[in-house]
Amino acid sequence: MSEERKVDTTGHQWDEDEGYPLQEYNNPLPRWWLYSFYATIVWAVVYWFLYPAWPLVTDFTHGMLGWSMHGQLQEELAQAQIQQKPFNDNLEKMSLADITHDPQLLQYAISGGKAIFGDHCAPCHGSGGTGSRAGGFPVLVDDDWLISGTIEGIHETIKGGHTAMMPAHLVEFGGAFKGEQVEDLVQFVLSLTNRETNKDAVARGAQLYRGEAGCNGCHGDHGQGSARDTLAGQPMEKTIGAPNLTDAIWLYGGDEATIRRSIAKGRNGQMPAWSAGTEGMNRKLEALAIKQVAVYVHSLGGGQ
Ligand code: HEC
Ligand code: HEC
Repeated sequence: MSEERKVDTTGHQWDEDEGYPLQEYNNPLPRWWLYSFYATIVWAVVYWFLYPAWPLVTDFTHGMLGWSMHGQLQEELAQAQIQQKPFNDNLEKMSLADITHDPQLLQYAISGGKAIFGDHCAPCHGSGGTGSRAGGFPVLVDDDWLISGTIEGIHETIKGGHTAMMPAHLVEFGGAFKGEQVEDLVQFVLSLTNRETNKDAVARGAQLYRGEAGCNGCHGDHGQGSARDTLAGQPMEKTIGAPNLTDAIWLYGGDEATIRRSIAKGRNGQMPAWSAGTEGMNRKLEALAIKQVAVYVHSLGGGQ
């Protein structure tokens, strides 16, 4: 028991009066550990010299290699641009129709257009173009078009924007018609999708629609709407974008209360213009981006 082993201690010891001094040994560290430790120090010093490392008061040490994350990103972007250039050049010079006939270019335009749509259009039209009735933002995935569903027409709409002018009709909102007349018009509009509740009201509403109220001037004699730059086969100077009232696809809503609201107060949906040369809400896209997003919207399934 009393045999003392000769060991190197730090001189620190606990429990002195117990007879078994509890001592702190001073064993050497294992070699492998020590060398790894030195290696990390060398590594750190080499790293400080080569790479950005230490913050200074207004700057930081840049390192001898001149590397930076930002620089690497720039390089990768430049690389991507070089790869995209031939595609972009073709997109720029080819017509929209030709682009849709070139599968590779079409795919490229659609994927670029999709990203642009997500950034700029989805807040109103919903991601994927599913629209929003609350805001009167049209669905872009069906084949019901307010303004135009051809690829050229879609391109025009995006470039120049469109402001819908559906006037208010109820006297209280500045229109020219009394409450009962608006009710008759509501019944007539309901009848276009076979949901009328009062035949006499429908007859009176039809008279107003094609007569005094002149709804047909925008929505067409049969409520067919004024898309495709024609009204009843007649070319129009400027697209009104009045919705088709017969197809059970609604911009704001097809229930009686919403139809009444549309007719009484009017509606003024605003599609901003995106072309850099246009006035208005400050939303601008390059010509190339507009082309890509037009191809994308046309591809959503409802393109004509
Ligand atoms: C501020 C909301 C808003 C934004 C952002 C917006 N739109 Fe629109 N867009 C509208 C409204 C409202 C209409 C309907 C205009 C009308 O009734 O005249 C519309 C109409 C359209 C139409 C015509 C649909 C048809 O049926 O003829 C297309 C195509 C379209 N938008 C594409 C786009 C694209 C592409 C973008 C993004 C670059 C975009 N929109 C961004 C609100 C918006
Ligand atoms: C000057 C052209 C014009 C006239 C006149 C007009 N409308 Fe409209 N109407 C529009 C436009 C454009 C829209 C789309 C509004 C929007 O996008 O914000 C619209 C929208 C509507 C809607 C909403 C449709 C939906 O899908 O939610 C109804 C209902 C409607 N009109 C009925 C009528 C009736 C009934 C009359 C006559 C009393 C009439 N409109 C007169 C242009 C017109």
